[in-house]
Amino acid sequence: MGIKLAVMVSGRGSNLKAIIEAVKAGNLDATIECVISNEPDAPALEIARQNKITAVAVAHKGLSKIEHENKILDEIKDLGIDYVVLAGYMRIISANFLKHFQDKLGYYKVINIHPSLLPAFPGRAGYEDAYYYGVKVAGVTIHLVDEEVDHGPILAQQPFPRFPGDTLESFKERGLSVEHALYPAVLQQIATKGIPSFCPVYKRTHAETK
Ligand code: GRF
Repeated sequence: MGIKLAVMVSGRGSNLKAIIEAVKAGNLDATIECVISNEPDAPALEIARQNKITAVAVAHKGLSKIEHENKILDEIKDLGIDYVVLAGYMRIISANFLKHFQDKLGYYKVINIHPSLLPAFPGRAGYEDAYYYGVKVAGVTIHLVDEEVDHGPILAQQPFPRFPGDTLESFKERGLSVEHALYPAVLQQIATKGIPSFCPVYKRTHAETK
């Protein structure tokens, strides 16, 4: 049966597609219960529909953050979601939303992928910022979301090289192919071994405070 996921998106949906393909190929023991986009025209919604996954647009325009997030919570609250997966969701998640997904160990079951080796280059343009900074080694981070932006316990990081002849496009393409392999693999580890398997120290810290 696996873990039940709600995937939140805002745009293109290439990570969503990689996750769907991993499920279909039997490499990810999960079901995607719904895909939610704050952008009604996001191509990611169409990818979900093509794969017969419930696709819901919850536009944020004209709503406060709390109103918008409460509408999203209404959409997913009865689905038995184990983890919320952010896949190019371009809005900051509030503490109000996170508290609905708090695990007994204290972390939030909300996962994000970020296109840099955090804590370097947080923000909306991780690849661009790293490329124009001139890094020789770039990377991708998958982390649990907390109350700060692009912050929270790191589950996985994978570096990739920047080659001298890279254009921004070739650099991003290399990064995206890392993302598309890493996200399904991390989700599969969560499905089979749980979050604490990524970091025994993190598990102990939280267990000791209980
Ligand atoms: C990815 O680079 C991801 O790391 C970042 O936003 C981008 C989303 O791309 N958070 P896509 O919509 O999955 O194609």
